[in-house]
Amino acid sequence: MVPTRWWHVETIANLERTVFVADAWSAELFWSELAQGDQRYYLTALSRPRGVATHDLTSIVGYAGLAISEDGAYIQTVGVVPHLRGRGVGARLMISLLRRARQLGARSCGLEVRTDNHAARALYHRLGFVDIGQRRGYYQPSGGDAFVMRARPIDTVGYGILLDDRERALPGSALLQP
Ligand SMILES: CC(C)(COP(=O)(O)OP(=O)(O)OC[C@H]1O[C@@H](n2cnc3c(N)ncnc32)[C@H](O)[C@@H]1OP(=O)(O)O)[C@@H](O)C(=O)NCCC(=O)NCCS
Repeated sequence: MVPTRWWHVETIANLERTVFVADAWSAELFWSELAQGDQRYYLTALSRPRGVATHDLTSIVGYAGLAISEDGAYIQTVGVVPHLRGRGVGARLMISLLRRARQLGARSCGLEVRTDNHAARALYHRLGFVDIGQRRGYYQPSGGDAFVMRARPIDTVGYGILLDDRERALPGSALLQP
């Protein structure tokens, strides 16, 4: 995983249409996110084919973003290419964002998730997120409803241990490390 750079944006925006379909963000929205500087932390998950030693053939297989404010941290987005789901890429991205949020002193982390998104909700539950509310018609233009979820406190030793435990339980990864 590497911090998201401007040269990732076009590919991510293309993937976004596969990942989020009707609710996909535009490339412009990703640009404006990256332009927020220290208030955002975006990661790109890169993979390369088995047996390939160079970085030339890497491809983007996932991405995720965190917003940081005085009120706490917030998961802006997380997406993984469909054919690589269920292998822990989403969990690794989330764990990295949550560690960053802890480093920056956030005490809580929030997010919204579609009420029918069982895979994402399973992932968030495992990372200590609980439902704290519901927003009707939150997703646009599709009009889908969202659960509001929050993990708190995330600034404790215990939460750090939970992240370590969840990471240890993940399958081996072909993701490139920085
Ligand atoms: C949510 C998402 C990022 C998870 O990525 P991932 O790489 O599959 O995540 P993981 O491999 O770490 O798996 C996370 C959980 O989803 C489950 N899962 C993965 N693919 C699934 C599928 N097709 N159907 C049901 N559950 C699935 C996994 O079993 C795991 O649950 P578990 O911890 O109880 O075993 C990915 O499904 C995705 O990109 N979805 C579309 C975009 C999206 O909904 N993003 C979240 C917006 S709030």
